[in-house]
Amino acid sequence: MSKPRSFLDGRVVLHPGDCREVLRGLADASIDSVVTDPPYALVSIVKRFANSPRSERTENAENPYGRTGRGFMGQRWDTGETAFAAEFWEDVLRVLKPGGHCVAFSGTRTYHRMVCAIEDAGFEIRDQLAWVYGSGFPKSHNQKGDWAGWGTALKPAWEPIVLARKSLSGTVAQTVHQHGTGALNIDGCRVHADDAQGGAYTIKRFKPGATLDKEGGTWKPEGDGPLYHGEMKPGRWPANILHDGSDEVVSAFPESAGQQGVVTGNEPSSPFANVYGDMPSRAGRAEPRGDSGSAARFFYSSKADANDRVGSKHPTVKPVDLMQWLCRLVTPPGGTVLDPFAGTGTTGEAAFREGFRAVLVEREEAYQADIARRMKLAMAGPDERARESIKAKIADKPQDLGPLFGEVA
Ligand SMILES: C[S@@+](CC[C@H](N)C(=O)[O-])C[C@H]1O[C@@H](n2cnc3c(N)ncnc32)[C@H](O)[C@@H]1O
Repeated sequence: MSKPRSFLDGRVVLHPGDCREVLRGLADASIDSVVTDPPYALVSIVKRFANSPRSERTENAENPYGRTGRGFMGQRWDTGETAFAAEFWEDVLRVLKPGGHCVAFSGTRTYHRMVCAIEDAGFEIRDQLAWVYGSGFPKSHNQKGDWAGWGTALKPAWEPIVLARKSLSGTVAQTVHQHGTGALNIDGCRVHADDAQGGAYTIKRFKPGATLDKEGGTWKPEGDGPLYHGEMKPGRWPANILHDGSDEVVSAFPESAGQQGVVTGNEPSSPFANVYGDMPSRAGRAEPRGDSGSAARFFYSSKADANDRVGSKHPTVKPVDLMQWLCRLVTPPGGTVLDPFAGTGTTGEAAFREGFRAVLVEREEAYQADIARRMKLAMAGPDERARESIKAKIADKPQDLGPLFGEVA
């Protein structure tokens, strides 16, 4: 394991190496949040079937199992031995403070394996977010002849993200006060659009100790409580869908009017209507907005920036803006974010931009170099980032630019 490298006045630290080893060296309860994007192990059939009779088939590089066993886009690191292992997540749990959140991306085909491991390690699964994008293309084996029009895959249009939490120490309020962790930064992650204005409201609270009376079809609080005046925050309550703002995604959402009536927060709701299990109370009162447009505006949109890659050839670079939103959602002010599968360091840059500290781990040397370049450019303007991205892109090997720029015989 090499020595850690420090960037941006020590606000971002990179541990080159295997995160399983690195985590063993991190102190208990030293991390405020984990925001990460582990390998999806989309096609690591070698690993998955290693101890089954099918493994023979994976050894032959010419058959389909062998070919796909090379990992996503041929990446050898795209395996599940770490992110599908509860023992790994037990160490993640140990280094997190009580109530600390863990946000981890996954692939639609392998999400279940990762999330079971996270849950088995002792995390509480709090939610599943969807990152919806328009840039995916189907990798389908299209059939010919009589079976033309039949294929093997759908167009990938979203990635699941698990939101998990370490157990609290006491109540949420006690954990937040003691450790800064346990709650989500709702106001910091509201969805702002031109129409999402705030406003004053008045609401009647239940009388302390009041019970509910049923008259006819609805439940009512028994007796009047005090009047409560509040201010509705501008921006919509953040939802568990995020998207890339592409025309393709925005046009796939229906045209939809915004909220038309007043929601008081006291509406009765049937526990059997849409969910099975707990029915948490509503978030509060909301006023009509009288707006219209694509329903995509209800969800946070984080467009990829052309310079997000900073010249890297990594196949799965995430938009920095998306990682910023996720870091902000789960990290207390001034907190430390851990990313055990850092890739090109988008989580590190996002954490830095949000005023957090970041601890990154990355095993591949090429991506460690990408992280170093990203950190060097973290304070640079768009022109310098673009220039350095181009330099990095063309640095590796001379490109074959075809006959137009080749030698004329
Ligand atoms: C999906 S990529 C992360 C990409 C990153 N989100 C970005 O935007 O650049 C996963 C990364 O985890 C790294 N990795 C895989 N197994 C690892 C391990 N055991 N320890 C450390 N890094 C690992 C891979 O090299 C790869 O760069």
